Amino acid sequence: MPSPLEGKHIALGVTGSIACYKAVDLASKLVQSGALVDVLMTEGAQNFVSPLSFRSITHRPVITDLFRPESELSINHVAIAERSDVLIVAPATANTIARIANGISDDPITTTVLATKAPVIIAPAMDANMYENPATRQNVARLESWGYVMAGPAEGRLASGLTGKGRLLEPQQLLGCIGMALGRKGDLAGRKVVVSAGGTQEAIDPVRVIANHSSGKMGYALAEAARDRGARTVLVSAPTALSDPYGVELIRVGSAREMREVLLGQCDDADALIMAAAVADWRPKEPSDRKVKKGKSNEWNIELIKNPDILAEIKGEGLVKVGFAAESEDFLDNAQSKLLSKDLHLIAVNNITAEDSGFAVDTNRVILLDREGGVQEIPLMSKYDVAHHLLDRVVTLLR
Ligand SMILES: Cc1cc2nc3c(=O)[nH]c(=O)nc-3n(C[C@H](O)[C@H](O)[C@H](O)COP(=O)(O)O)c2cc1C
Repeated sequence: MPSPLEGKHIALGVTGSIACYKAVDLASKLVQSGALVDVLMTEGAQNFVSPLSFRSITHRPVITDLFRPESELSINHVAIAERSDVLIVAPATANTIARIANGISDDPITTTVLATKAPVIIAPAMDANMYENPATRQNVARLESWGYVMAGPAEGRLASGLTGKGRLLEPQQLLGCIGMALGRKGDLAGRKVVVSAGGTQEAIDPVRVIANHSSGKMGYALAEAARDRGARTVLVSAPTALSDPYGVELIRVGSAREMREVLLGQCDDADALIMAAAVADWRPKEPSDRKVKKGKSNEWNIELIKNPDILAEIKGEGLVKVGFAAESEDFLDNAQSKLLSKDLHLIAVNNITAEDSGFAVDTNRVILLDREGGVQEIPLMSKYDVAHHLLDRVVTLLR
């Protein structure tokens, strides 16, 4: 399955911020995803990173000047504006934002922004006081009103030593923003997809929980893939170590019962529910509200009670329901009975005994079973690619 970035022309404008080093990583990630990346740099940016770094990563000329005879733009100054599928300015300084907001076009980046019909993403990076300044606030509001996507900035520690709003988003989040811009008219546009992820935690006492090995990676990949096909995506996540995916509505929960509450509400107007979370089947019957002392006994018996079966309970007119079955034996039989008992359209069966699929790893191989007895084997690939195969089936079911 080709990445949605495969063969896409991405123009990356880099301006004079200390955060330029992150743009090098972004360029690298884009190239690894198959994109053709044209980097344009301001003079300011070249004080922080050399054009050679970008040229070596993208294997393409880097544009630093409109008028240099060897620059493509000196022959056709709107060439990159015309061929780009997305234009992203990252990092975007206060200065470049101001110039774009005033229609100025006196360098390769501002000229390309002004001339393009492609979606434009602006990812600001600056000191918090510069970002809060009324001039910048007004310029940002102006760009938003014109339909530019403002990606960030995030809050956190800034190069100035201050803590505040002004940090450039991380390259992974910028990549998500580009994926979202490319997929805005995808085959899930106008649909709401709810995904659950992670392993629920069931309290034994205020410090101890019953947990499981789910890393949440499959669910997060599904949410990102749905986002990249244009869906409004809600991710209901039990605790994981993963960072928040860009452009996805993330709702954090702890226990199975919390997850149930949120999912019941979210599925009211959803088109599809994909349940990739590992929901605990059991929880301690009477969790203690104080930490249980170690004591002298060598045994501690905890009585368990069954958790609600969320997937079986959620029903909706036209709601496509997809489940996951993590199995270590009798894969297909167990999954088939789960498919029927929970009234699912589709179930993805994982063999959790294999090292290259299942929990914690970035790859997966699954077998998709449907109500009609269809069996589709998806060989080993990244979880993001598996997610797209699964979403292909969801799109067909929604039709
Ligand atoms: C060390 C250093 C770091 C800077 N970091 C930023 C920054 O993060 N954001 C910003 O808006 N300006 C920053 N500036 C100021 C810009 O580089 C300056 O406004 C420049 O004119 C921007 O030009 P450009 O937008 O054409 O790249 C920094 C300047 C220096 C000397």
